[in-house]
Amino acid sequence: MISENNQQNSLSDVTYPLYENGYSYTGVNGNIRDRLPVFDDILSLKWQRSLADRNGDTRKLLPLWIADMDFETVPTVKEALQKRISTGIYGYSYIPESYKEAVADWFKNRFHHSLLSREIIPFTGVIPAINAAIYAFTRPRANVLLQTPVYHPFFKAIASTGRTLLKSPLVRKNNRYEIDFVGFEKVIREQRPELFVLCNPQNPTGRVFSREELQRLTDICLRYRVFIVADEIHSDIVFKPTEFTSTLNLNNEELSRHLIVCTSTSKTFNLAGLASANIFIKDTLVRKRFLETVEKLGQQGHGPGFIQTIAAETAYRTGKYWLRETLSYIQENFAYAYKRLDEELPHVWHSEKPEGTYFLWLDFSRYGFSNRELENLLLVRCRIQANQGYIFGEEGSGFVRINIACPRSILKEALDRLVEELKNYRV
Ligand SMILES: Cc1ncc(COP(=O)(O)O)c(C=O)c1O
Repeated sequence: MISENNQQNSLSDVTYPLYENGYSYTGVNGNIRDRLPVFDDILSLKWQRSLADRNGDTRKLLPLWIADMDFETVPTVKEALQKRISTGIYGYSYIPESYKEAVADWFKNRFHHSLLSREIIPFTGVIPAINAAIYAFTRPRANVLLQTPVYHPFFKAIASTGRTLLKSPLVRKNNRYEIDFVGFEKVIREQRPELFVLCNPQNPTGRVFSREELQRLTDICLRYRVFIVADEIHSDIVFKPTEFTSTLNLNNEELSRHLIVCTSTSKTFNLAGLASANIFIKDTLVRKRFLETVEKLGQQGHGPGFIQTIAAETAYRTGKYWLRETLSYIQENFAYAYKRLDEELPHVWHSEKPEGTYFLWLDFSRYGFSNRELENLLLVRCRIQANQGYIFGEEGSGFVRINIACPRSILKEALDRLVEELKNYRV
């Protein structure tokens, strides 16, 4: 669907034929964006659901929900998969040592981790790993702590493992979300959770916690012997000048006896559909307990298959420049969105600056809409499919999460529609 003679000359010129030619897209030759979105309603849940919901409306529903990008992955990943698929040999496979070397190298180069091969556990997803960790490191019905608003499948993981949800809401201060350390310690002291799921970079708020914040947070957990599952799946989606600090960078031996870290290529290289992850566990006993639980649950099977490992290894070995360019495009999207929000929608709150993740986390509460009205405004009036804030916990009521890892023309269209619609309301 990419047409040879319809190439654009600069990133900001990229156009997306919203109303014509189905979902094809052409960008700049030699630039990542000419290999980016070829939207196909068959290939992507994000687009499929949106189209299914079209209801005859001529304005296409803009799919700015679920956490994947509208961008094609690293070209070398596609080539490596094509080559492997062309063999026709799909029997049981093993994970080569070179895979773990590629993972270790990536995390060493980017975040200065020194991971041994045995400390890397290839897995089938971050959420399955979180479920297994809850079983492994807490007792039945134990309290499990989250900082809300937060990625909604965490609530389900706690419920489905028969544990009890405890919350320590993030607080909005100085135009960004901050940790209420006093409240965090109080809830731990009084209700003794056995496990805390840390989400950093934080979905949906986009906060990337500083080393000092992580230090304080983990010190409190250690003081009360709370096990930490650090979901760092968005660690590569961080925008300058913000720097990502991993819990592993705290270099605390005691912490490593109470910690597992969840990572993945799925957000970094837009490979979510391949379902794979890497779980880092430094401590031998923690690792043993985790792996025994995984076995008891029958969860691991043969681990990720060769498609996942080939994709991840290739991406970690060759995807650095793709990622750099993709991040810079998304950062420009943030700048574009913030400018338009400030100028045209001053009553919609956004954070002071984008730190991490590719989400706009917008507060519409000054308009006084109910959740239902806000959902209706976005979905029916503006034809924008976003994630409603309340799904991330009640602290998200009045908010909307908008995924801006999309062509700028789609972002522009979404903002045009919002501006136009919100003219009808007073604050
Ligand atoms: C914070 C967070 N954790 C986990 C996931 C999903 O991970 P997986 O698909 O590997 O289970 C997502 C996806 O959006 C996420 O944002």
